Amino acid sequence: MKNQPFSIHALELGPMENFIYMIHDHSSNRAAIIDPGWEIPKIIVLAEHQGFKITNVLLTHSHYDHTDGLQALLESTNAKVHLSGLEAEFWGKKLANPILHQDEDVIQFGSTKIKVLHTPGHTPGSVCYHLGDHLMTGDTLFVNACGRCDLPGGNQQQMQNSLHRLGNLPPETVIHPGHHYGEQATSTIAEQLKNNPFMQ
Ligand SMILES: [Fe+2]
Repeated sequence: MKNQPFSIHALELGPMENFIYMIHDHSSNRAAIIDPGWEIPKIIVLAEHQGFKITNVLLTHSHYDHTDGLQALLESTNAKVHLSGLEAEFWGKKLANPILHQDEDVIQFGSTKIKVLHTPGHTPGSVCYHLGDHLMTGDTLFVNACGRCDLPGGNQQQMQNSLHRLGNLPPETVIHPGHHYGEQATSTIAEQLKNNPFMQ
């Protein structure tokens, strides 16, 4: 694996086996939080303890178990909130100054480049975030499973297309899902192409 300008810290928080991720950009000491659903004080304490400054929040989608802590996090950090324009529309929530993305946008985060991949299916504006050899997959791709398509805004055909698209990423790409539903916390695209029935 290449030397990368960032590290990824996974926190399993809340009652629904959510993974909340803290991405640390080494050069700037900034932290980005992915899907702040639960237990915000723990996240803030961890960042303080490490000396990281939380400057960005990246949402993979708008479901409450991924966003319920957003307000609390913004009250103590002033971070910028990123999500897809389509998801903001679907969510309908009033956010102060969201940064709305479309497919293939690149977020410059210190020395780390984070690419937005629009992967609808679980919700209309679900996205994955691609950085280096890593992919933050939200509720699109789980280890050996995928997100539900039977909730409002879900669409099975879109999910199939999204999973197909992810299957074309470099095989060594490490996936970081929004929930700890599998036997293992992470996997790779190569492994998922082999073992995940939804990617066949
Ligand atoms: Fe979800």
